[in-house]
Amino acid sequence: MEIKKIRLGNLLLPSNVLMAPLVGYTCYPFRMLAYEMGAGLCFTEMVSANALKYQDQATKRLLLTTKQETIKAVQLLGGIPTIMEKMACSELLKDFDVIDINMGCPVPNVFKSGEGSALMLDQPRASAIIRACKKSGKAVTVKCRTGIREDKMFTAEFARMCEDAGADMITIHGRSRSMMYEGRPYYEEIEQAKTAVSIPVIANGGIFSIEDATQIMEQTGADGIMLARYALENPFIFSTLTRKKCEKTLLQVVLEQIDLVSGYYDETFSLAYIRKLAAYGMKKRKGTKQYKERLYRSGSLEEVKEVVKLIFA
Ligand SMILES: Cc1cc2nc3c(=O)[nH]c(=O)nc-3n(C[C@H](O)[C@H](O)[C@H](O)COP(=O)(O)O)c2cc1C
Repeated sequence: MEIKKIRLGNLLLPSNVLMAPLVGYTCYPFRMLAYEMGAGLCFTEMVSANALKYQDQATKRLLLTTKQETIKAVQLLGGIPTIMEKMACSELLKDFDVIDINMGCPVPNVFKSGEGSALMLDQPRASAIIRACKKSGKAVTVKCRTGIREDKMFTAEFARMCEDAGADMITIHGRSRSMMYEGRPYYEEIEQAKTAVSIPVIANGGIFSIEDATQIMEQTGADGIMLARYALENPFIFSTLTRKKCEKTLLQVVLEQIDLVSGYYDETFSLAYIRKLAAYGMKKRKGTKQYKERLYRSGSLEEVKEVVKLIFA
């Protein structure tokens, strides 16, 4: 696929291969890894604006970043324009350059609260949220789906609304809410959205190989792609696509992640993160099944390190 830089407001993203926000995975260490491998932009996992408003400590931890992270992007989840504006302009987000608005989360309790993908059904509210977040002066992007139901998709119309409200970029997960995370994404919907707007359009969903990346870029005409689950399995997809030199092995990468996560997060979070990341990494590695149970039984990071050495030796 053609690798190019993307302009986002005053920012220039180093590549058009982006890393998706993923609950439980896209903590600071994983974002550092993806950037090192050539990702153009990485996001925090979704952060509830409402929980931030109430100074929830666990939510505040999701905002952890350092000067080492080149471009800082936070994904906000919320359905009330005034709260979104207050949080977007707050001291809590002062270090972030980009605010991505979650308009795609399909989870029932999120949907019922009028957040995430529910905003696709209320375009005036979605538009007000984009305009409210723009008051922060930061670049504002939107991540949405193709619609709520497969038989009634309206991606291009929604993309136009986002552009009119001032969004600087839109990422489209090519599945409707009803599809959750399964099934072949509707790339033709992304293609239609791309022709309908002039802001950058990023294609997301179902990219599980280098060939998928190239084909989906061609088919949709999108400005870039956003990788999600496959990047957990194979973080080297960034360096392969962007042709960035990387001589590390997966074992080195996972050991580095253990050191980095334990330096910034508590043991409970670190253990959960490394176990899940290692489980993704071993998905297609033959003869590793026997270690899975040991990985999940390990009670300390030192123990996990020993199992990881066996898995990725
Ligand atoms: C475990 C998990 C956590 C996710 N968390 C978020 C999130 O916080 N924000 C968001 O916009 N999408 C989230 N997503 C959706 C992904 O960003 C992405 O749109 C989706 O996985 C489709 O891409 P894929 O088919 O390449 O995995 C999540 C998906 C998974 C599987």
